[in-house]
Amino acid sequence: MSHHGFCLWLTGLPSAGKTTIAKALTPKLKARGWPVELLDGDEVRMGLSADLGFDRKSREVHASRVTFVAKLLARNGAIPIVALISPYASSRAKARSDIGAFVEVYVTTPLEVCEQRDVKGLYKKARAGVIHEMTGIDDPYEAPTNAEIVVDTVAGTPDESAEYILHELERLKWIAPAVESREPLVGGPAASARLAGNA
Ligand SMILES: Nc1ncnc2c1ncn2[C@@H]1O[C@H](COP(=O)(O)OP(=O)(O)O)[C@@H](O)[C@H]1O
Ligand SMILES: [Mg+2]
Repeated sequence: MSHHGFCLWLTGLPSAGKTTIAKALTPKLKARGWPVELLDGDEVRMGLSADLGFDRKSREVHASRVTFVAKLLARNGAIPIVALISPYASSRAKARSDIGAFVEVYVTTPLEVCEQRDVKGLYKKARAGVIHEMTGIDDPYEAPTNAEIVVDTVAGTPDESAEYILHELERLKWIAPAVESREPLVGGPAASARLAGNA
């Protein structure tokens, strides 16, 4: 299979499920033969973006650094999975145009649910006024209007969310359909049709 890489860009509020879904997706895509690299906002902030804060300019620079790395990976045949709040529509639009092969995934978890999850306790701190510039509380989140994939994490498990994204990537023809083990790999009309991309 010829591998044209692409960037899978997960955006959403803090605690929406970006990191969890990205981690669930990584082995699934690797199992299908794709090189995958996770670019998680929090991890990038420990290294490449260690100098940045949470003001608008910093968030824009953070997103542009991640965009640059994702572009290099995608053009070399990998799937960079970006898990980044990326609250500004303009930063996401820039990522889309710079990278080209770009699939935006909007993790739509509503604020009330994110705040209940509060994985890192940041909503609580923001509500108490201990921290500021918290996305969703006192900093904006511009919800995507043109995301290729919209994933709802309220009803299902992280694994179900990851499977849904895989299914959408197949439907949108970014990845080939999984080869089902119960069918023969070669021979037979079903296999031929599938190999021809008609299954
Ligand atoms: N369908 C789902 N997809 C992703 N996370 C989910 C889902 N359902 C529940 N969760 C929980 O929501 C939390 C999301 O946290 P995290 O992935 O760190 O969010 P983010 O990276 O967006 O800040 C985790 O505790 C995860 O177990
Ligand atoms: Mg995260």
